Amino acid sequence: KKVGVLISGSGTNLQSLIDATRDPLQHIGAEIVIVISNKPNVEGLKRAEKAGIKTVVVKHTDYPSREEFDAAITVELLTAGVDIVCLAGFMRILSNTFVHLWRGDLINVHPSLLPSFKGAHAHEDVLAAGVRISGCTVHFVETDIDSGAIIEQAAVPVLPNDTIESLQERVKMAEHRIFPLALKYLATERIHLNDDNSITWNY
Ligand code: GRF
Repeated sequence: KKVGVLISGSGTNLQSLIDATRDPLQHIGAEIVIVISNKPNVEGLKRAEKAGIKTVVVKHTDYPSREEFDAAITVELLTAGVDIVCLAGFMRILSNTFVHLWRGDLINVHPSLLPSFKGAHAHEDVLAAGVRISGCTVHFVETDIDSGAIIEQAAVPVLPNDTIESLQERVKMAEHRIFPLALKYLATERIHLNDDNSITWNY
């Protein structure tokens, strides 16, 4: 399967996807053919370039509406022949049209154990709530933010003196493990998203 990865930043999850898909022992069944960033000059773009993967910058500020921005991304994805779209730290909310178009082939990684701690400040909210366990979730993307059927999760401890940064670092280690795994489930057709938002698992 051909994969397009959407990023906005450092791209450590992108790196884990690049490494896993290129490791013949992992049998991910997927190849990253394009990396799209809404921000120019981010570290993730450099990672893609270094790996010889096509990169495109689609700046949201260049488009009058969310729909037109999303349509520009879709054009890039379709031109590259993409089957599966991975959101790896992509910090823009996608339009309903985009989500419906890619439904079932569109996955995201979120840095909390969903359905707890949705939104853009998960680590901050986790620390404020004082929970002792956090983690990460890879899920199918739905129009409601950070909803959608859960594909894979991993838990990590929250330690007494954690800062946002130290917690984020620990959670990211888990993200880097489960994102390639979830991609493998989808690319090898072990999972299928049903109309009622349940997942059928074929083992
Ligand atoms: C990750 O923590 C991801 O869960 C969140 O944004 C962060 C992206 O990090 N959505 P990176 O760009 O993959 O390093």
